[in-house]
Amino acid sequence: MSGALAEKNILLAVTGGIAAYKAAELSRQYVKAGANVKVVMTQTAESFIPAKTLGILSKQAVLTDGDRDGSASVEHVAWGRWADAIVLAPATANTLAKVANGLADNVLTETLLASNAAVKIMAPAMNDQMWHNPATQRNLQTLQGDGWTMIEPATGFLAEGYEAKGRLAQLETIILTTEQALFDGQTDGQRDAFDNQPLKGRRVVVTAGGTKEPIDPVRFLTNRSSGKMGYALAEAALAAGAEVTLIAATKRDCSKAIHLVLAPSAKEMLTAVEEAMTDADAFIGAAAVSDFALAKPFDKKVKKTSPDAHFTLDLVQNPDILKTVGQNKKSGQVVIGFAAETNDLLQNAERKLKSKQADMIVANDVLAPAAGFDKDTNQVTLIQANQVPIEIGPKSKSAIAADIIHQLVTILDGQ
Ligand SMILES: Cc1cc2nc3c(=O)[nH]c(=O)nc-3n(C[C@H](O)[C@H](O)[C@H](O)COP(=O)(O)O)c2cc1C
Repeated sequence: MSGALAEKNILLAVTGGIAAYKAAELSRQYVKAGANVKVVMTQTAESFIPAKTLGILSKQAVLTDGDRDGSASVEHVAWGRWADAIVLAPATANTLAKVANGLADNVLTETLLASNAAVKIMAPAMNDQMWHNPATQRNLQTLQGDGWTMIEPATGFLAEGYEAKGRLAQLETIILTTEQALFDGQTDGQRDAFDNQPLKGRRVVVTAGGTKEPIDPVRFLTNRSSGKMGYALAEAALAAGAEVTLIAATKRDCSKAIHLVLAPSAKEMLTAVEEAMTDADAFIGAAAVSDFALAKPFDKKVKKTSPDAHFTLDLVQNPDILKTVGQNKKSGQVVIGFAAETNDLLQNAERKLKSKQADMIVANDVLAPAAGFDKDTNQVTLIQANQVPIEIGPKSKSAIAADIIHQLVTILDGQ
């Protein structure tokens, strides 16, 4: 299981108990294990440990209520979405009660409520009377029912001066639990995140991979797309209960329940997409469709001639699949496109949103270090008309796919 924390995004949520100082060492150990750590803390937590200490150890700015007062930003939403795992440690009885009841009255509870992280871990620490109080026990049950993993407090010498249950669990236990939960896999996490099957009864069509435009029987023009993002989207839609048709230019392994249609070229992909869209609720175009194809591919393999001879390919524009789907969309159908850009990301994506009549564009800066072709991670911005852009990642393509599917559910539900 070693390396389960490498490159994982961990949001450490620190509340105001006497054990808050231990969050410093916890954050240091996550960073040492290769994780990206961000800390959000309550005002009471700040009275136990300075935000500055946690900022230095996590190597990131810390989100506090000071950032929230008078701010028009929605940082807590972005942070909640960024996280692969949320670790609430130490968790006070007070914050546990708030989170169990969906309250959002400070930056930490707002962040937790806005997050759909697949892994949520809480490590309570409190006085033993507070721990045994039926209200606390009731809240813990509710949280576990909501998908939180609980790390029980340890029995030991409490700050009150006697031996009882209530100390924060050993940091190694918290680290191991985080590793285990992340190791158990994104797919399990996604299944939990979509426990209520919000796309049950819906049909979703996804395209994936880089199209291959034939030059002759043995050669083709293609691009660097691996298909990983599209396949992750198909898996996430399936996990959310949808009937999924995946039209792919690139073959990869996928769940048997996904209806996989291989369509190597743009023209073949368009035909398959048009057929699948006749009774679909949503289209997600994640394929990198070649803009150009040969006007007339050669029937036979093209041979070399003299060393100095030039060889010119006559290219014509391919059909625009996203635009065609956008123009022909029936009432109630949702269309989502991808914009792989290398510059002017937001402006280009907004233009694409309008010109393709799409409901959402997933803008993708393919030159960003964690994003792009053939990587397992990505970093995207979701753009919808008249809405604040939502920045997601960097995180794994499966975690990004889960966020996109959550957004699709929101759009479908709002219709
Ligand atoms: C010295 C001191 C130590 C405390 N330690 C704890 C604790 O370990 N666990 C806990 O649940 N509450 C503890 N509390 C109570 C919390 O600080 C209080 O409930 C506070 O409202 C929690 O705020 P927060 O949940 O927003 O961080 C302590 C209070 C004081 C004054």
